[in-house]
Amino acid sequence: MPILGIDYEKCTNCQQCYYACSKFFKRDKELNKIVFTDPHHLCDSCGRCVAMCKSDAIIYENLGELLEFEEVQNPSKLISYGTMHKFMSAKRSIRGYKKKKVPKRILKKILDTMKYAPTGANIRTLQCTIISDDDKIKKLSEIVMDAIISSGNPSYSQNFIKAKKHGIDTIFYNAPHIMIIHSNNPGDSMNATIALTYGMLCAQSLGLGTCWIGLAHGVLASSKEIREKIVGIHGNVWGVIIIGYPAQIYYRVPPRPDIKTKGLNELV
Ligand SMILES: Cc1cc2nc3c(=O)[nH]c(=O)nc-3n(C[C@H](O)[C@H](O)[C@H](O)COP(=O)(O)O)c2cc1C
Repeated sequence: MPILGIDYEKCTNCQQCYYACSKFFKRDKELNKIVFTDPHHLCDSCGRCVAMCKSDAIIYENLGELLEFEEVQNPSKLISYGTMHKFMSAKRSIRGYKKKKVPKRILKKILDTMKYAPTGANIRTLQCTIISDDDKIKKLSEIVMDAIISSGNPSYSQNFIKAKKHGIDTIFYNAPHIMIIHSNNPGDSMNATIALTYGMLCAQSLGLGTCWIGLAHGVLASSKEIREKIVGIHGNVWGVIIIGYPAQIYYRVPPRPDIKTKGLNELV
């Protein structure tokens, strides 16, 4: 039970915890204060109460590191729309990498950002497997190609037969690292997609390139044998990306169609 209660020495009775979560924070009229009550341990540890308490009066344990920085109250001060828009629109799928491994501390930074991605009901069951061994990546690439070839999908089979013959890795593009997101929670699909998207954007801020590899995801998601015996993952695979230092340069942002939207034109 990570949220334990309220430190009344610090509490100013501002009641923000109650507004953050009226499910477990209740007004006790007799005591004239807010009390935390979770007899059935149902609190999902979202930490909104911790984040909204100005006087830091919420008592908790095992929630992870608490971040405090000035702009947390107004994140738009950190980055302008113009910079954000350029950063996001310049995010390309990278399919050519330098032969250089990414240091552990850099990959850790990416994971440290991914953990702030929202998840349904704040359920934090995602796990990550990073594969960095070149031989293992090559082997997995061949296994994925074989699986696709044997599935007989005409849009891919011929290309992969040719690629395999010439020893070309058209699955992972000789990337130095593969990041696989998985879990035992069948409801983690969207959580994983959002977390990996956070990861790809964070990677870009660190000078790294990424590419979502749906082909590998498809094979790993559907083959328990490949998942368990080759990659050592038990449970569901939700997404696969490659990461490394880009060896490709994009000189401009490719044009993209507008998202067809209803309900915008009538607004002022
Ligand atoms: C769900 C998903 C699956 C993808 N699978 C692959 C893949 O297997 N191989 C690949 O080279 N690119 C893959 N991509 C990258 C897309 O081809 C790419 O995002 C798209 O062409 C747009 O290009 P951009 O990311 O550079 O803007 C995938 C992207 C997404 C979102």
